Amino acid sequence: MSLMLHHVSMLPHEAVSCKLRLAGALARSHSFSASCSVTNRAIHCTPKRWSCSGSCIGVSISSSSRCNYQGKRLVRSCSTTSDFVIAGDGSYGNKQVVSLTPRLYDYVLKNVREPEILRQLREETASMRGSQMQVSPDQAQLLAMLVQTLGAERCIEVGVYTVDVRLGLAVDSLESLILNGESGSYDFAFIDAEKRMTEKYFELLLQLVRVGGLIVIDNVLWHGKVADPLVNDPKTISIRNFNRKLMEDKRVSISMVSIGDGMTICRKR
Ligand SMILES: C[S@@+](CC[C@H](N)C(=O)[O-])C[C@H]1O[C@@H](n2cnc3c(N)ncnc32)[C@H](O)[C@@H]1O
Repeated sequence: MSLMLHHVSMLPHEAVSCKLRLAGALARSHSFSASCSVTNRAIHCTPKRWSCSGSCIGVSISSSSRCNYQGKRLVRSCSTTSDFVIAGDGSYGNKQVVSLTPRLYDYVLKNVREPEILRQLREETASMRGSQMQVSPDQAQLLAMLVQTLGAERCIEVGVYTVDVRLGLAVDSLESLILNGESGSYDFAFIDAEKRMTEKYFELLLQLVRVGGLIVIDNVLWHGKVADPLVNDPKTISIRNFNRKLMEDKRVSISMVSIGDGMTICRKR
């Protein structure tokens, strides 16, 4: 069973055909793959982000030079086909991590297995306003893998797009599930709704998910803004604070993954 929570104020693009909703719901319940925008989240960056300007947020450059960002080495590139990143903090050594260039991300997308029905759903959704909010196909595949590995049967997605089962504010819906005695009965939850409410969703889901179950939070890197001290808008601060608190939270094991816009996988202890 897959339970989707949805905001009462749907966007116009969310009015899709019943057939498509059903197909999406079925597909999601089996694989948790979402309808996704063809536009990927790396490529949506402006050209400036792909350069090594002052607003560089840790994506790659394609020239063979060093990148200085606030005095720290961030990005180094050997060629357009072998871009990599080294942490600015020297205590991590010279560990080189591959950096996604548009070409490399295209390659990643070409290596995603996407069921035909989800491809159709993604392509239809991609034409709608706000479609950039969809998880990317590679994220969807990772979520599907987690759900399958877990053998999850009861899932909650907080913040959905072209599939909906329940309408209402997510917090109200989650609280009603708890009042309904469903605590500890869910295997998997995915948080992808109002970013300033993520901590509240997390606390409620921690009650609803069983020990050993997973809570995955989307957008934890928030287009790189969380790592930029000069960006302090309410959503960025909220996500940054949430990430910091999660580091200290002994109730869960965590893994922050730099896929899509960043996802943190939490396993309830
Ligand atoms: C990023 S989109 C979800 C995308 C979806 N997870 C996917 O990958 O296809 C966020 C959704 O959360 C919904 N939303 C925003 N605030 C909400 C709230 N307070 N309660 C429930 N849903 C909310 C919006 O209507 C929007 O459809």
